[in-house]
Amino acid sequence: MNRDDFNILNTNIVYFDSAATGLKPKKVIDSISDYYNNYSANAHRGDYDISIKVDQKIDEVRTLIKDFINADSKDEIVFTYGTTDSINKIVFGYYKYILSKDDEVILTKAEHASNVLPWFELKEQIGFKIKYIDLDSDYKLDIDNLNKIITDKTKVISIAHITNVVGDIRPIKEISSVAKKNNISLLIDGAQSISHIKVDVKEIDADFYVFSGHKMYGPTGIGVLYGKLNLLNNFHPIIFGGGMNASFTSDGKRVYDLVPLLLEAGTPNISGIIGLGEAIKYINNIGIDNINKYEINLKNYLVNELSKVKDIIIYNKNSDSSIVTFNIKDIFAQDLAIYLNKYNICVRAGNHCAKILKDEINIKNTVRISLGIYNTKDEIDYLIKVLNNPNIKNEII
Ligand code: ALA
Repeated sequence: MNRDDFNILNTNIVYFDSAATGLKPKKVIDSISDYYNNYSANAHRGDYDISIKVDQKIDEVRTLIKDFINADSKDEIVFTYGTTDSINKIVFGYYKYILSKDDEVILTKAEHASNVLPWFELKEQIGFKIKYIDLDSDYKLDIDNLNKIITDKTKVISIAHITNVVGDIRPIKEISSVAKKNNISLLIDGAQSISHIKVDVKEIDADFYVFSGHKMYGPTGIGVLYGKLNLLNNFHPIIFGGGMNASFTSDGKRVYDLVPLLLEAGTPNISGIIGLGEAIKYINNIGIDNINKYEINLKNYLVNELSKVKDIIIYNKNSDSSIVTFNIKDIFAQDLAIYLNKYNICVRAGNHCAKILKDEINIKNTVRISLGIYNTKDEIDYLIKVLNNPNIKNEII
């Protein structure tokens, strides 16, 4: 599907690492060069035409994102540098001021480092308790296990919508209703979901939803922090400077802007914002449901074909997304990735930044294939042929 849109596919790579970063279509790349070639002014300076154009573009993309995730207002859309930056801004700019020593924060062991380490850091400052929801035998989140660990001290649930190793889609609506019933705040890491399934922040009633541009066919270095406006209005900025203040005087008096500008100090990643806008238009043109259908069909084919490979162990045969994680018996995951690279196949191997998942899955390193709309059945057939090479173990040693 749409392979011609991706120049990089004119080289002979087979790209199976979209969960790390998605490939960028020409339209996204062209929009970035257009900015640098034709109107590369700064933002928030609007007294001349090309600067006014920059401000208009930023505003237009904020509205596009608002519509894409069905937020109430474009003021609920804060530009960040990525999912990690968004989560850090929420943890240290909001939760830091509402959590106290006896509170509890709920995570799972399948979370990415960016949704674990900020919590560890804040816990060290405040002293709250971190609890993990037990995963089921497929490493999925079981709502009963969530209910079991909630107490009247539970203040936050912070989890991925789709996890980056197991690839399970969390039952977010059910989780959200449990959270609301118990007056618990809900932060959702949408890095792996935003370009694969429809996200409607109103329908799932998320307090915060965060994602990165580069995993949704957009550029690196741009991300989004969505928050309900009444919550964002209680944020403390953690970065201060130009673009977020209305005035300040030599005796230290200062007046800051309202959100979202309050949380966007410094020159924004303008080309990143413009590229992200183009990426959203690209997804909208194909249709997120069509993307999902195509990828799931391909994932099912992949699981079916991989299952026939000798000595394979697939960890998430029943995953609901386009992520498949496996090992081949007696071959170290990274060695397999290096072997596949010899055949121009790009996969990720290791712990995939989910370093405590090993407590659940009992293995530290795995090989991960993550599909995008540009992948094909032919590429999967080629992968299977390379994995079925009778000399595979000799070539690796
Ligand atoms: N979070 C990215 C991944 O899972 C980098 O590969």
